[in-house]
Amino acid sequence: MRTQVAIIGAGPSGLLLGQLLHKHGIDNVILEARTGEYVLGRVRAGVVEKGTVDMLDEAGVGARLHREGLVHDGTEIAFDGKRHRIDFAELTGKTVVVYGQTEITRDLMDGRAATGGKTIYEAADVSLHDFDGSSPKVRYKKDGKEHELACDFIAGCDGYHGASRRSVPEKSIKTFERVYPFGWMGLLSETPPVSPELIYIHSPRGFALCSMRSNTRSRYYVQCDAGDKTEQWSDERFWNELRARLDEKGRDELVTGPSIEKTIAPLRSFVAEPMRFGRMFLAGDAAHIVPPTGAKGMNLAVSDVHYLSRAFIEYYKEKSSAGIDHYSAKALARVWKAVRFSWWMTSMLHKFPETGEFGEKIQIAELEYLFSSKSAATALAENYVGLPY
Ligand code: APR
Ligand code: PHB
Repeated sequence: MRTQVAIIGAGPSGLLLGQLLHKHGIDNVILEARTGEYVLGRVRAGVVEKGTVDMLDEAGVGARLHREGLVHDGTEIAFDGKRHRIDFAELTGKTVVVYGQTEITRDLMDGRAATGGKTIYEAADVSLHDFDGSSPKVRYKKDGKEHELACDFIAGCDGYHGASRRSVPEKSIKTFERVYPFGWMGLLSETPPVSPELIYIHSPRGFALCSMRSNTRSRYYVQCDAGDKTEQWSDERFWNELRARLDEKGRDELVTGPSIEKTIAPLRSFVAEPMRFGRMFLAGDAAHIVPPTGAKGMNLAVSDVHYLSRAFIEYYKEKSSAGIDHYSAKALARVWKAVRFSWWMTSMLHKFPETGEFGEKIQIAELEYLFSSKSAATALAENYVGLPY
């Protein structure tokens, strides 16, 4: 088989790239290790930057987000029993949309099916070849048979554990990593959200976050020990711990109920450099991971696809390699700013066992500065709504 761009991974970055290339008549095939149902089964974050909304609209898959997404023009940070609102609209003129990543992935899959785009699910043992030469290939097994896909370029959109980054020789790649000494215990419940906006909570017992998927479905997180197992967290323990970290108003208004999903997510910051290796390009979680505190994971994947799609379109339409030659530098410049913002939010709002009293005092000073300075609040707001591409 032959295509122009072989895309590995049918997550948000792979599917969005496929849509944009299709729109410009650039042939592409997506190879996904799992089934579509499995990909849709993963519960992920749900805060969408304006830039991401525009990219989904450009790909023709934004309609349901505009119908069902919740527009938020601010968020609250709770500290020392009080809430402080960061007004995105007033401080930046921009807002965000709360709409689950699962819904975005579903819209992208429906969009791809509507275009007749070729997606090979359950493609096993995907391997990448000759991308340092002029004719890269991807090999995979499907229904036990070996297949080879020849292409001009490979887009590695297969996440942190994917085959793409792992196929790069160690000497050609440099990685940067910070693993945080705690995790997030997340719970999804068919209960009305405790507040119409997200609440990021700094508490002596550790971080907590109150988020939602709709006006009837809530998503909550509490900071937990890195080694914790989901089984250790009964619904009752979760609700008691969340209540203990909430302020009085939150405790009074919290509606609890049986969990419909519970997961523990480890927290790490990770970046791989560069993001291009000959005719292979990494995008999304394949190249970088951020802790969810800044709600940047999916938005960064879309940011990469913004640059990569334009690079391929420029290559095929204008016969220019400028875009593909500058892709890595452009994408990484925005990636590091979002990595910094996510690290900063995580450092300011979580309980770090090892930092001791000095660290706690610094956090309190950071939060008091944030709530007393319009420029500090504006800095948070402009990073949260998304820095320009
Ligand atoms: N071969 C084929 N497909 C693979 C392979 C492989 N060897 N390894 C992984 N995949 C698939 C996964 O099954 C998954 O569907 O690649 C896809 C990668 O999707 P994501 O992990 O969602 O990564 P990305 O599209 O970059 O989206 C990043 O997802 O994890 C969240 O917080 C993250 O929001 C961010 C977003
Ligand atoms: C979520 O809704 O799951 C969510 C929202 C904001 C975050 C992280 C997760 O920062």
